[in-house]
Amino acid sequence: MEKVRVGIIGTGFTIGIANAHVQGYQRVPGCELVAMYDKIPGRAAKFMEKFKIEGLKACESLEEFYSMVDAVSVCTPNNEHANLAIDAMNHGKHVIVEKPFSTSYEEGLRALNASKEHSELVCMTVFNYREQVEVQQMKRIIDSGILGKIISVRHIGGGGRMWDGEHVFLEWRMQEKTSGTGAMADFGVHMLDLTDYLLHDIIGDYVQFNGMTSTLVKERYVINEKDVMGDKKGDEKAPVTNDDIATFSALSESGCLCTFETGRLVGSMSMFEIAGDQGIVLRNNTLYPAGKMGLFDRSKTKGPFPSFETIDIDADIMESRKNSGLLGHDGVLGEFIDCIQTGKKPVRDFRHGLYIQKLIDNFSSAAKTGQTVYEKVSESEIQ
Ligand SMILES: NC(=O)c1ccc[n+]([C@@H]2O[C@H](COP(=O)([O-])OP(=O)(O)OC[C@H]3O[C@@H](n4cnc5c(N)ncnc54)[C@H](O)[C@@H]3O)[C@@H](O)[C@H]2O)c1
Repeated sequence: MEKVRVGIIGTGFTIGIANAHVQGYQRVPGCELVAMYDKIPGRAAKFMEKFKIEGLKACESLEEFYSMVDAVSVCTPNNEHANLAIDAMNHGKHVIVEKPFSTSYEEGLRALNASKEHSELVCMTVFNYREQVEVQQMKRIIDSGILGKIISVRHIGGGGRMWDGEHVFLEWRMQEKTSGTGAMADFGVHMLDLTDYLLHDIIGDYVQFNGMTSTLVKERYVINEKDVMGDKKGDEKAPVTNDDIATFSALSESGCLCTFETGRLVGSMSMFEIAGDQGIVLRNNTLYPAGKMGLFDRSKTKGPFPSFETIDIDADIMESRKNSGLLGHDGVLGEFIDCIQTGKKPVRDFRHGLYIQKLIDNFSSAAKTGQTVYEKVSESEIQ
């Protein structure tokens, strides 16, 4: 089969996740990255120069871009995902959008509805953390049944890049209009996707939601829009309009309590613990070096208290991910290209993206009102 011609919309100036897509597609067989487009004139070309990306066209119009590609990665701010996905589908292009799927359920629903009118196209959301070796090892342990009945999930993680209010400026992700929620939209969606991926078949749907958020850096320098790469400081400061730290929790219909803590100002510890009545699996970057995790197996332990052994991540899992980048985009982009070529239906589709957005909306509503949200949210019922 001919190679799928791929292009990227939104090259970047803050994190520039587009570069992870470039590297990902370079590792995925069956596709060829041919074009990039950014709405700021000159930015796509500068981005390619900065990251030494060669052999692609830096398009200056969307029409030119669409004329060159069969499939599109959308790497723009969150509030542009739904509109651009719809536009790409209307141009007959397969589309994968970065996470979070949208900034609200209503916004994302427009994209899901459009995808139903284009059932010939592959439509996916980037949930790349599933590709991590620790997550794959956790899946193997959970699926073996040795943890018994799953009773709790605790997940702490995030990033520390935004702690410095003087040098990290007022990006789109610090504005509710362009990002939606703050820390939950950045990292919380990954946590929810992982819990869903590993445990949904076991713990069922969530039925109860709580949340709490806080904004610690309340204003930042605006970005100087005159600069093509948009990475220079402007003269004024303006308010941050979403949170930079969040805790949120949900109860599943089986009674499993899932608690999540994430922030954009502190990023030292990453901890993910799944506990059953017969054992616990633990990923913790402060306790275990790369390639190792913790396991408490009650059948091997005398007495009531957990005693963890350090386990190696299985060699086949390490081998299968040995060339993945840090963020594992090649895994999810590989699924995208494979589905385009074989007609398979993707798992991380638009319905799944919208389902995670619905969860985020419920946590966010609980955080804003201080009221618990009682609602059973089923992915299968999202229409
Ligand atoms: N999966 C992950 O691990 C991961 C990591 C970081 C960021 N992200 C997600 O990737 C997306 C992009 O984040 P980023 O930090 O790379 O952003 P960024 O700020 O670095 O770049 C976004 C680019 O999109 C361009 N843009 C905005 N609107 C556009 C439009 N309508 N058409 C074309 N270009 C447009 C901007 O000019 C900018 O260059 C976000 O949704 C973010 O949540 C995902």
